[in-house]
Amino acid sequence: MECIQIQGGNKLSGEVDIQGSKNAALPIMAACILVQGIVVLENCPRILDVEFMCRILRSVGVWVKWEKNVLVLDARQITESRLPREYVTRMRSSVMVAGAMLGRCREITFHYPGGCVIGDRPIDLHVKALKQLGAVFTESDDMLYAHAERLTGCRISLPFPSVGATENTVLAAVLAEGVTEIYGCAREPEIEAMCGFLNCAGAKIKGIGSSHITVEGVKQLHGCTWKVASDRIVAGTYLISTLAAGGDVYLKHAPVGQMESVLSLARVMGAGLICDNEGIRIVQSGLLTAPDSLNTGVYPAFPTDLQSILLAALCRADKDSSLTERIFNGRFGVAEELNRMGARIRVENNTAYVTGKRQLHGCNVTAQELRGGAALVLAGVMASGYTQVYNRHFIDRGYEDIVRDFKSLGVSIGSKEEFQTDERRKS
Ligand code: UD1
Repeated sequence: MECIQIQGGNKLSGEVDIQGSKNAALPIMAACILVQGIVVLENCPRILDVEFMCRILRSVGVWVKWEKNVLVLDARQITESRLPREYVTRMRSSVMVAGAMLGRCREITFHYPGGCVIGDRPIDLHVKALKQLGAVFTESDDMLYAHAERLTGCRISLPFPSVGATENTVLAAVLAEGVTEIYGCAREPEIEAMCGFLNCAGAKIKGIGSSHITVEGVKQLHGCTWKVASDRIVAGTYLISTLAAGGDVYLKHAPVGQMESVLSLARVMGAGLICDNEGIRIVQSGLLTAPDSLNTGVYPAFPTDLQSILLAALCRADKDSSLTERIFNGRFGVAEELNRMGARIRVENNTAYVTGKRQLHGCNVTAQELRGGAALVLAGVMASGYTQVYNRHFIDRGYEDIVRDFKSLGVSIGSKEEFQTDERRKS
């Protein structure tokens, strides 16, 4: 189903069970390359990016099997050190496999990684840190070959708290000789999750969750069972959707402790929030109160991955507002499509100026990347009339089933056939 159809304009009501975290599952899957034993990953999201990572892992010899949302991996036999171009160029987090492969096999050949079209995404910080540990890189055409006689612990200072570079450095350091001190680490909860998993498999990592991580190299990791936490970005998507469309929604298993910036923004915007041990209830009626201005930033600031979704919501707020993107340049691509639906968004450099109180109207729009795609679905939910969002595959990279989830909140949404059957049933 490449196109999502939505009859918008209604409030949301119901419950969504929040899926496992994409950005935690992917580096943990890469980390499995380091493990000489069987790993059982529970609550793994069944999304396209995880599927791509399964294929990359299989291509180097990892045995991978799904049992519903449990992923079983066995990396005892690594047979290949060259990654398949097809998946690597599609998915940025494939770069994480580099650190793990260097750690385990001391060599890897891969193409420059791809991923969502959200601006420049170089890998210089990854390469620099891996070189400091002892890796030697050779470049030819668009391929990178890296090998290391040995990896030796050292002091590494990241000039910017890059999530991926922090993860990659930890992965390469786990089986290195001696102690690696990493300064300037990113502190995203997904890094904590990956380090927690590695310690569960026998690694010796300290300073987890801080900007200074210490990795004491060990000889070998052993198999273990790990539960992937819920996805704070997916939870944030449905939370912001409820703010924008209004209604009464319960986000079951939302990772409340990781969502402080989003929850405090929701309070400023007028939402009623009740957090309990199991999740978050959001009650929203009336117009949203727009914050005067807002920036994205590194954790714990407001996440860049929710910026597009918030952009769509702000079109319905009580006044004009601005939103500044501080992590990725070029992440306002969705503004043009939102404007076609009646939004008035002007982008200047890395700031979007959003006119409030706009009534969006349904039309045909096209997703260009994952979070922008989800923002278009939200726009369709808020809009009057009928919307078709093309290029669903981008959204499926990070959402298990956005149609299923919005349906459970009472939205008329589906594939063409599903949608028509639903509408006929109602009339
Ligand atoms: C991860 C997340 C992504 C999220 C992002 C920021 C995964 C799989 N993806 O991406 O969803 O949006 O964190 O929270 O976890 N940079 C460099 N050189 C490098 C590496 C990064 O200049 O070598 C720059 C990037 O271009 C970007 C910024 O650093 O401007 C942040 O990137 P980074 O934190 O590395 O994000 P990712 O790990 O790619």
